[in-house]
Amino acid sequence: MAIARVPHYLKVSAVSEDGVYETIEYTKNGSLLLGVQFHPEIEGESYLFDWLISSCHKYLCLVNRDFAIQYPCNYKIVEYHSKYSKCVNDSNMEENTYLSWQVFKKFLYENGYDAEVESAYRSKELQEKIYQKIEQEEGSEYVREHVAKPGFSEHELGLAIDICLKKEDEWLSGFDERLDDFYYFLKDNCANFGFILRYPKGKEKITKYNYEPWHIRFVGNKEIAHSIMDNHKILEEYLSEEY
Ligand code: DAL
Ligand code: ZN
Repeated sequence: MAIARVPHYLKVSAVSEDGVYETIEYTKNGSLLLGVQFHPEIEGESYLFDWLISSCHKYLCLVNRDFAIQYPCNYKIVEYHSKYSKCVNDSNMEENTYLSWQVFKKFLYENGYDAEVESAYRSKELQEKIYQKIEQEEGSEYVREHVAKPGFSEHELGLAIDICLKKEDEWLSGFDERLDDFYYFLKDNCANFGFILRYPKGKEKITKYNYEPWHIRFVGNKEIAHSIMDNHKILEEYLSEEY
């Protein structure tokens, strides 16, 4: 997702041995951003990624495969008790994510979907355990495409929720054709509650993760969520264009 030539106002924080800028910090619209330039000898041209690292928009923090959580992480995590019994201490979430989820959940229920949290906030230790378990069960290639390494998961921010659904007394999650209509509804309505679909189909080259119709991410308000969802964007693309 190359988005801009390196601008003159940047502050270079590291230069590689061959003289190519590797990381660049700069401020735009009052927010601190980090750019990583592709090596021109490889890519042919010098482009810059815009990655928001601190902002007045508290909920636009970017965490992805290449960009780790910047500690200290100041999100306030509150308790949430999921009816889904297989939660392993990971149903808590960030406080405003919680408030928005409560309203969204009620809306889903009124529309015939008994949805619940399958997994929300995870400590770094829990993310590590999950990573190792999936690696043992499914192998290293699978785990790389499906699970973030500890320190690199939005679940560790408390802003991400994996959703599951109770249907005819059975809890359904992950890929299951009985969830197709629900995932469609989730995608169509999440923006009204400040959530986006974080790993949509067709954006795998940017997200570098497999499609996850169950993983929603809180972005702070419905206006931002709509700008992303209505334009078929993902967070990386939105931040690149807006900041
Ligand atoms: N499944 C997502 C990528 C995570 O582990 O955070
Ligand atoms: Zn998830």
